[in-house]
Amino acid sequence: MKTWGGRFSADPDPLAADFGASVGVDRTLAMDDLLGSIAHLHGLGRAGILTIDEVDRLVAGLEALKADVVAGAIAWDPALEDVHMNLEAALEARIGPLAGKLHTGRSRNDQVSTDLRLWLKRTLGALDARVLGLERALVGVARAHGDAVMPGHTHVQPAQPVLFAHHLLAYVEMLERDRGRLADAGRRADLSPLGGGALGGAGFPIDREEVAAELGFAGVTHNSIDAAGDRDFVVEALSAMALAMVHLSRFAEEIVWWSNPRFGFLRPSDAFSTGSSMLPNKRNPDPAELVRGRASRVIGHVAGILALLKGLPLGYQRDLQEDKPPLFEAAAILDASLEVMRGLIETLEVDEARMGAAAADGYTTAIAVADALVEAGIPFRAAHRIVGALVRGAESAALPLDRVDDAAVAAALAAADDPIARRLVTDTHIGDRVRAAASIHGAIARCDVIGGTAPGRVKTELDAAARRLELI
Ligand code: ARG
Repeated sequence: MKTWGGRFSADPDPLAADFGASVGVDRTLAMDDLLGSIAHLHGLGRAGILTIDEVDRLVAGLEALKADVVAGAIAWDPALEDVHMNLEAALEARIGPLAGKLHTGRSRNDQVSTDLRLWLKRTLGALDARVLGLERALVGVARAHGDAVMPGHTHVQPAQPVLFAHHLLAYVEMLERDRGRLADAGRRADLSPLGGGALGGAGFPIDREEVAAELGFAGVTHNSIDAAGDRDFVVEALSAMALAMVHLSRFAEEIVWWSNPRFGFLRPSDAFSTGSSMLPNKRNPDPAELVRGRASRVIGHVAGILALLKGLPLGYQRDLQEDKPPLFEAAAILDASLEVMRGLIETLEVDEARMGAAAADGYTTAIAVADALVEAGIPFRAAHRIVGALVRGAESAALPLDRVDDAAVAAALAAADDPIARRLVTDTHIGDRVRAAASIHGAIARCDVIGGTAPGRVKTELDAAARRLELI
């Protein structure tokens, strides 16, 4: 007979029982469930509902179950439905009928929400450490290649040269925002629903705030109906995880491209590459591709949890049992992806020469030349057209922009419908100024604003990140 079977005259059909069993998934919450039960018992004791002796014997039994959980010694039984009923049965097996007092003033509704919030807080803390680990790896590579230059792209077309470190620090910014979002989700999960009961509140004068404090919660929920059916914290955590996975996926995509020999900017180590079962030459960036691929599952879980909740009336509905598989899987995927990306990055070979050589392809310093013409007094729109003409000419002569000759510069200026530009035709230094502005290092140095790619600015940000990450 089921724990809740008093009003029934028959056991559930095995099909229905099987269908409802969740212990295969929610046993992940075992330790949190035991902590929640112990705090609940202390609350019952303080309220005088259980005697001190009863509380002591019940808590001793639960403490012993903690060791069993750690040792993998609990025989999880799907016939007992879930982790909560399994642990209650294990307690009864250990200490006898007194175990029947554990569930006083409690429902599995406030219990499971408490467990899940405790699990989430712990897991978010672990994920935060993983994100920090990846940030440290990125800053480490950025510092090791502080002067390396690469082509920056927009529309996947060469756009402007940037420092490689600047590009890597973009991911550090993204990951910092991810940390903030994960922490924020954790803050909203940080309220204890325990004492909310099935939906109306426990029928005993339990000091919910004391119980919450014992569990390390920042406070208690203030509406027992909401508390029983609220899974906003799951949505928020999943959303933050999905966005973090999107960031890792974008980085993975770049690693895949950059390790293609046509780019050749990077070479993942053998330890983070795989071969082909057929083609002996292959070196595939599978770990990066799998990060990209698994991001799709976490994204799907965000849609899944929203769909799960949208039709539910207030209070607990059994549908809510379906919140755990996506949350657990998303956390596991993010955790593993962060670690794989860290390992990949820490062992990456960077080809600075190759990246540097590619930095000028596509006339990436054109904007620096236009800016130099603006400094000579030409309005930006006119300078844009003049440099456009210079690029067109250089392209057909197969010359880089810092090798255009005086005659080409003079011709472009003369053709401009701007009086200052035409006056500059006779300036004997203008060709040199154009060529100087067109150098990669000149172009990078120009971007000397907060958050820009000028070496001094990147160094400032790199040092700040290294300090924050306690690398210096
Ligand atoms: N296994 C359930 C879940 O994960 C526990 C809560 C069950 N509550 C209930 N009233 N049947 O949601």
